[in-house]
Amino acid sequence: MKILETRSLSKFFDGLKALNRVNIEVDRQTLTLIIGPNGSGKSTFINTVCGFYKPDEGRVYFEGRDITGLPPNKIYEHGIVRTFQTPQPLKKMTVLENLLVANVHRGEKVLNALRYSTWLKQEEELVERAFKILEFLKIDHLWDRESYKLSGGQLKLVEVGRALMTNPKMIVMDEPVAGVAPALAHEIFERFVELKKKGITFLIVEHRLDIVMGYVDYVYVMANGQVISKGFPEEVLNDPRVVEVYLGGG
Ligand SMILES: Nc1ncnc2c1ncn2[C@@H]1O[C@H](COP(=O)(O)OP(=O)(O)OP(=O)(O)O)[C@@H](O)[C@H]1O
Ligand SMILES: [Mg+2]
Repeated sequence: MKILETRSLSKFFDGLKALNRVNIEVDRQTLTLIIGPNGSGKSTFINTVCGFYKPDEGRVYFEGRDITGLPPNKIYEHGIVRTFQTPQPLKKMTVLENLLVANVHRGEKVLNALRYSTWLKQEEELVERAFKILEFLKIDHLWDRESYKLSGGQLKLVEVGRALMTNPKMIVMDEPVAGVAPALAHEIFERFVELKKKGITFLIVEHRLDIVMGYVDYVYVMANGQVISKGFPEEVLNDPRVVEVYLGGG
């Protein structure tokens, strides 16, 4: 069974077909990449899947369950986490604090832990988990650094760390290595490969094909709100339709 499947998913903005009957399938424990020229509908697709936009047509299935039109928090409860750039207030917090607050949204029973001792134990476990994740991402040495002092790539790793704190089944990212130095960008994708082995699925939009193609299992190409090609990386890169939309600017 596919972990994610969209059927004929459409999203219109004032008559503009930003998504036009899009069928995308994602296999469990893979890294699926969506590429395409500017304005082709990539971000609209992931925002619709994650519940930030309500689709005008079509369905979204996650693990076989229909999650179409659910609000973002409900979709999140199904195990899909979409990362966002770290907002300003969080940048004043340390790296560790950033991970610790990541779970609050999940509504884990923090409020139920009325007894102080229970609360302390939970807090301790949370810190332990955060440190394990920071170690895995190789940024544990930065744990007490305020986030605004980090490089762009380090911040991306913190965003991944926050996503991991929620125990996701699928991580969705929009341009995770935009503006990140090549060496660190490769390291980020090497971490994704490790996380895949641990059972996590990735759905990623990215323009920097030179960096990411080697880490990708399957590719969808969008243009004008539609999927115009799909396949393994080498197939897609050699598809004349893909070459044409890139050269023709969409
Ligand atoms: N909230 C919105 N309201 C109106 N139009 C929108 C909205 N979001 C996106 N669009 C339009 O929908 C189309 C697809 O946009 P989208 O952001 O999904 O493209 P993209 O493939 O992510 O592009 P890029 O590579 O530049 O990020 C564009 O024409 C865009 O202007
Ligand atoms: Mg976009």
